Amino acid sequence: MLQEQSLWRSDGVKMPLRAFLPYLACLAVGLPWDVLAPAASHGEYAHQGHCQLTQWTALCDGSQLSSVPADLPGDIEELHLNCNHIGMLKNTCLSGYPHLRVLSCASCHLDAIEPNVFHNTLYVENLNLAENYLHSRYQSTGQALRLLSRLKALDLSRNGLTEDMVSFLLRNMSSLEYLSLSGNVLLRLDQAIFSDLHQLEELHLERNALYEIEEGALDGLHKLRRLNLAFNGLPCLLNFRLTQLEVLNASHNDIEWFISDQGVNEPFHLETLDLRNNRLLFFPFLPTHSRVQSLLLSNNKVSFYQHLADRRSPNWTTSVQFFNLNGNHSNVTADLWDEALHGDISSVDLLDLTGNQVSYFPRGFLSKMPKLSRLRLGRNCLESFDLSSEELSDSLYELDMSNNRLTVLHANESRLTALGLRWLDLRNNNLNTIPFHQAKTLSTTLQTLFIGGNPFNCCKLEWYRVLEGGSSVNIADRSDVTCQHVTHGRQRVEHMSGHPCRNGGDESDWWYVALFLPLCLSFLGIIVIFMLTFRSTQVPKVIKKRYLRTTTY
Ligand SMILES: *[C@@H]1O[C@H](CO)[C@@H](O)[C@H](O)[C@H]1NC(C)=O
Ligand SMILES: *[C@@H]1O[C@H](CO)[C@@H](O)[C@H](O)[C@H]1NC(C)=O
Ligand SMILES: *[C@@H]1O[C@H](CO)[C@@H](O)[C@H](O)[C@H]1NC(C)=O
Ligand SMILES: *[C@@H]1O[C@H](CO)[C@@H](O)[C@H](O)[C@H]1NC(C)=O
Ligand SMILES: *[C@@H]1O[C@H](CO)[C@@H](O)[C@H](O)[C@H]1NC(C)=O
Ligand SMILES: *[C@@H]1O[C@H](CO)[C@@H](O)[C@H](O)[C@H]1NC(C)=O
Repeated sequence: MLQEQSLWRSDGVKMPLRAFLPYLACLAVGLPWDVLAPAASHGEYAHQGHCQLTQWTALCDGSQLSSVPADLPGDIEELHLNCNHIGMLKNTCLSGYPHLRVLSCASCHLDAIEPNVFHNTLYVENLNLAENYLHSRYQSTGQALRLLSRLKALDLSRNGLTEDMVSFLLRNMSSLEYLSLSGNVLLRLDQAIFSDLHQLEELHLERNALYEIEEGALDGLHKLRRLNLAFNGLPCLLNFRLTQLEVLNASHNDIEWFISDQGVNEPFHLETLDLRNNRLLFFPFLPTHSRVQSLLLSNNKVSFYQHLADRRSPNWTTSVQFFNLNGNHSNVTADLWDEALHGDISSVDLLDLTGNQVSYFPRGFLSKMPKLSRLRLGRNCLESFDLSSEELSDSLYELDMSNNRLTVLHANESRLTALGLRWLDLRNNNLNTIPFHQAKTLSTTLQTLFIGGNPFNCCKLEWYRVLEGGSSVNIADRSDVTCQHVTHGRQRVEHMSGHPCRNGGDESDWWYVALFLPLCLSFLGIIVIFMLTFRSTQVPKVIKKRYLRTTTY
């Protein structure tokens, strides 16, 4: 989402997506351009050497250029040179295009930009240098960038840059609003690296090798609204206090702890928190005032520990201290089992806990989310779940509980009809049956149900008929619903006709007993009679043998 939203806006004008997507640009070679750039389709196309021209735009992507073309109209405002083999931007190569606002040179094998390249193009606002080799002569590039006092969007992704190089390149870039440094080799962020970027709103740091963010390193970015730290090696995010941030993406790290600064009283603007694929053991410690709507926590190790708090011994340590890599301990300590640490989750609309270790929710936890509409609990350790719990939000319409250990399901009519649950996934649990009245309740609200992979009893399938017959429920995985039958083994419920068990499960067992008992008795009788007649000829022989045996006195 972060990436796709990164269209740049300036004065209400959306700049083209292609400036930030070098791969797309490379793939687009040979496609009719108007498929990808509707904005360009108004003007007439013209060709100038290797480039296509529209009014103020020159498109020279993938044209096997080895230098910047010098024969383009002098009034062009956009120049796209992606996927060429230009190697170096030489001092005078842009001097004929003083009106340039957008320059895109992704995948151009650039290893240097000479210091005076932008001497005559001071209006450049959007510069894409992704996927080049700018690490090799970064000082020269840094000097060149310093001339662009109006630069708003800069893409330096995949250039082999270290944090020292970045620090140098970003010096005095105080007009930047968008910056991508993804796919470089940053290890650590210190307080100096972004200190000049007072206008920055969106920062991409994904796919680096970050293992530490120094306390306060991002504090100067007062306008930062979107931050992507995905695919790094961060072990924790402590003292989180970027109150103005709206989207934080820290998925695919090694994060064990997410702890907000509990001392901050002003509300946080955080709306999306992506902590997927980390190592969280505890539910994140969210800010005390926040408007988090999407809380993405799938593939962690989150569990709840209230049961431990209830019977904890006085000797247990209940707080955690954190140390930085110098061995200094930070003043962050977390008091475990303190319920307040779940923070403000009152705006949560989507909670994704897929692939964690949740076996229950603490008392009162779900009721803190009155706006919850999608709850994803697949691949956890739940053994029972009360769909009619007073705690569940009235707006819940999607519930995924697949791949748990559910043996019972509670659904009480009086609540559920008000709940409006539409989409329910119960695949791969331990359900043996669903009580008749609960199936009836579900059939009043549900639209889509997944229920395959449960060990249903073929003799207790009334629920299936309730849901199938007449109700508006669509059993989406109907062909995967099977049941176990005493004599017929596993059956596909869909194909079962008639009533193999007569009237309900318990009676059917007696039916079998009644059928088999006479048979067994007759068989037993035959054996006994046979034995008796056979033995009657054997027994005397034995007696005779003993009797005739010689005895010694
Ligand atoms: C977080 O970043 C990763 C990698 O860029 C991306 O795949 C994922 O969709 C992002 N999450 C959100 C919520 O945008
Ligand atoms: C960069 O900023 C520093 C102060 O932060 C200032 O002293 C210096 O003159 C600036 N350099 C340029 C080229 O603007
Ligand atoms: C708690 O610690 C005290 C002193 O160290 C010890 O005597 C006691 O047995 C401990 N209690 C438990 C329940 O471990
Ligand atoms: C961290 O510890 C080092 C010595 O190990 C010390 O020089 C430094 O001042 C400490 N930093 C802080 C912030 O306490
Ligand atoms: C310790 O915590 C206080 C309040 O949360 C904060 O203002 C201060 O900067 C922290 N000190 C360090 C060294 O982290
Ligand atoms: C449903 O809930 C109501 C009130 O909470 C209770 O009186 C009733 O017995 C419940 N019904 C079933 C079938 O559990």
